[in-house]
Amino acid sequence: MRIGVLTGGGDCPGLNAVLRAIVRSAINEHGDTVVGFLDAWDGVLEKRSIELTVQSLAGVLPRGGTILGTRRGSPYDFVNGPQQVREVLTEMSIDALVVIGGNGSLTVASRLHDELGINIIGVPKTIDNDVEGTDVCFGFHTAVQIATDAIDRLHTTAESHDRVMVVEVMGRDTGWIATYAGIAGGATAVLIPEHPFDIDDVANAVKRKHSRGRYASIVVVAEGAIPKAGTMPTPQYALDPFGRPRLGGISVEIARELFERTGFETRVVQIGHVQRGGTPNAFDRVLCTRLGVAAVTAAHDGVQNSMVAVRGEDIVCVPLNQVVGKTRYVDLSIYDNVATVFFG
Ligand code: F6P
Repeated sequence: MRIGVLTGGGDCPGLNAVLRAIVRSAINEHGDTVVGFLDAWDGVLEKRSIELTVQSLAGVLPRGGTILGTRRGSPYDFVNGPQQVREVLTEMSIDALVVIGGNGSLTVASRLHDELGINIIGVPKTIDNDVEGTDVCFGFHTAVQIATDAIDRLHTTAESHDRVMVVEVMGRDTGWIATYAGIAGGATAVLIPEHPFDIDDVANAVKRKHSRGRYASIVVVAEGAIPKAGTMPTPQYALDPFGRPRLGGISVEIARELFERTGFETRVVQIGHVQRGGTPNAFDRVLCTRLGVAAVTAAHDGVQNSMVAVRGEDIVCVPLNQVVGKTRYVDLSIYDNVATVFFG
């Protein structure tokens, strides 16, 4: 077979590990050729690609980012873009295209299959962990570890000064990183998009904690967290070139409101893209390797328009039409029954 592969959307620790697994499995196990398209769909539309070989992927397992480059955006942004994708893939004799991406890229991939018959295998990727149909996305656990390490460090400086640290993590629509890092880091409160918060409740949790003689509180907030209507100001977000709000900054507003209500000194830490950079942890390296091998197996089994996914201990194939247009929200039993037990 000739297998095409691209990495789309925001980058994520483990992309190179998936590429390596695809290449090793495709070439060594099946005698395939693997073509890597550069800069996501741009590389397909502009016929910019490289042949991926076992040698060219040597040493990339622990490396962050993606050797193929990635972009947001879609062929559907261009007149005849989807048709051009089909023409290029046909011209290059690509039998199956592996799309490593999050909700945006997988939605594009599924449309390309449904409307133009392109043979797609998806691999779910995002540190936000919000792709439906899989128990977990690669990159998520690495991001949680990075955020937890930061919180651990913030604890000691916050304790020294009796301060409140408001720690903002990624999570546009869902609070997976905030919930997991908040539990792992012993947060006083965790604020997530799924659960609009009342700033008075957060202030009371901070006061309760300090009234017990404990110094330092860590409030973990997902960038997409939303206050209950009318309770406090929210930032005005500029739009990115794709019309999405460029999030970041809710922590600044929260810190100001907490200071006004509690009188405790507050500081803000936005972990930002540090969560997306650098080496994947061991869990993600193993997961990426399993997903990459499974994607090649799926292509050889003739699986179409599906995503390789984690279900319990297994890697399975899930039809993309069961996945796209949906968001996998934080299991509120983890938030309500576990995280909140430790608030305040
Ligand atoms: O990868 C998903 C995500 O991390 C979101 O949580 C965040 O809002 C977004 O990417 C920011 O990405 P960029 O700065 O690349 O537009």
